Amino acid sequence: MSVTAHPTPAGTEEYQPVFVGATLEALGEILTRYPTRQAALLPALWLVQGARGWISDRNMAEVAEVLGLTPAYVKGVVTFYTMYHQHPVGRHFVQVCTTSPCNVCGAEDVVRALLEATGANELGATSPDGNWTVIEVECLGACGFATPILVNDDFIESVTPDKVPDLVRKYK
Ligand code: FES
Repeated sequence: MSVTAHPTPAGTEEYQPVFVGATLEALGEILTRYPTRQAALLPALWLVQGARGWISDRNMAEVAEVLGLTPAYVKGVVTFYTMYHQHPVGRHFVQVCTTSPCNVCGAEDVVRALLEATGANELGATSPDGNWTVIEVECLGACGFATPILVNDDFIESVTPDKVPDLVRKYK
């Protein structure tokens, strides 16, 4: 299925479209595997995040235009999933489960240890070296292995505060 690049969402002259060249080709290939353009929204957003590192409102408008959706619909999906970044994040994006079962097992202490060891210092902020962003998320589906965390795509179970410094060093 072919796709047409839409150069610039209205009123954004300096905007550099994502869906050009190889990214546009990749979207075209993705669209051949989905019954509708709307169904390809999640992988289309991955393409944007892969290309830009995060998904801005302008990116959402471009995705909406390319897939024939409304920007509000796209934004609703982006804001629903913690895996999509709505602002720039560090090279290592850390998600920590702090839902009740993990919380009673010390998840908040793991969060504190991560914020300190990474230098991010604050939830959602990026460390001064640009390497780390830490956020809290709901249940990661490993409630028996508190505290589970995701570092980018790496799923790590049974993290405790004392394990955090070594873990962070591993990713430097
Ligand atoms: S509550 Fe933490 S993984 Fe389920």
